[in-house]
Amino acid sequence: MKPAGLAAALAATLLLFAIAAAPAESLRLAAIGDYGAGSTAEGQVADMIAGFAPIDDILALGDNNYVLGENATIDAHIGQYYASYISPYMGSYGAGSSSGNHFWPIPAAQPPAPYHWYFPTLNGSNFYSQVLGGGLLEIFTLDSDCNEPAGTTNTSAQAAWLAGALAASSATWKLIMLHHAPYSSGAGHGSISRMQWLYERILKAGGFPYFVNGIGGDDLYGYRTVLEPGLHAIDTE
Ligand SMILES: *[C@@H]1O[C@H](CO)[C@@H](O)[C@H](O)[C@H]1NC(C)=O
Ligand SMILES: *[C@@H]1O[C@H](CO)[C@@H](O)[C@H](O)[C@H]1NC(C)=O
Ligand SMILES: *[C@@H]1O[C@H](CO)[C@@H](O)[C@H](O)[C@H]1NC(C)=O
Repeated sequence: MKPAGLAAALAATLLLFAIAAAPAESLRLAAIGDYGAGSTAEGQVADMIAGFAPIDDILALGDNNYVLGENATIDAHIGQYYASYISPYMGSYGAGSSSGNHFWPIPAAQPPAPYHWYFPTLNGSNFYSQVLGGGLLEIFTLDSDCNEPAGTTNTSAQAAWLAGALAASSATWKLIMLHHAPYSSGAGHGSISRMQWLYERILKAGGFPYFVNGIGGDDLYGYRTVLEPGLHAIDTE
């Protein structure tokens, strides 16, 4: 290659690198919780999300595979409706995503094996962080199941991991995902006080935003005591 050509190729490479390194201007996310029943309602929610296309990433907030998280049901309860967002895709409902993985589940500690076979991108961890949109957003998923070996108290190894990961993050937006809602008006479970970790309480007092979503396709509950005027949440855990 002539020197001028080499310079041009280098410039193009650097330009592409600069574009790739800049955060996306926006991300379109869908969040589903309490959905993995293989039910008609789950299919209706999935159809609704498909109608919102293009969706960049799907955040799956747990209860991904009712009732026992078994390998025998995982593909019918997740891939049947969301295979096109998953890569690598281990199941049999089509080819999966052709543009990388766009499905980020909160795995459950019990039983972990099917999740980690089905979602190898999680590298065997029940809690993890992932940068999306080239740095626009970092998600931090926690395993709030009591069986989590790294613990779920505010002094657990998992809590220490979260504090470190949040501090190390340079993402524009940071989103923490967990299954057992620290604050919820839902009649089924209400607020789960053991997950009201200290930093969350401080931030809550300063207006920290929480969203509860448990209407992904399983049974619906009504309200317990609506926590604050203007907050409307239906929690089926
Ligand atoms: C789940 O089932 C598939 C076959 O459908 C098998 O290949 C895989 O090893 C199983 N995974 C676990 C963790 O049992
Ligand atoms: C799993 O490991 C790969 C390779 O190191 C990494 O790119 C990926 O981000 C990891 N996944 C998670 C969820 O941490
Ligand atoms: C942990 O939670 C307990 C009980 O809710 C609380 O008394 C304590 O201050 C918390 N400590 C930290 C480090 O968050």
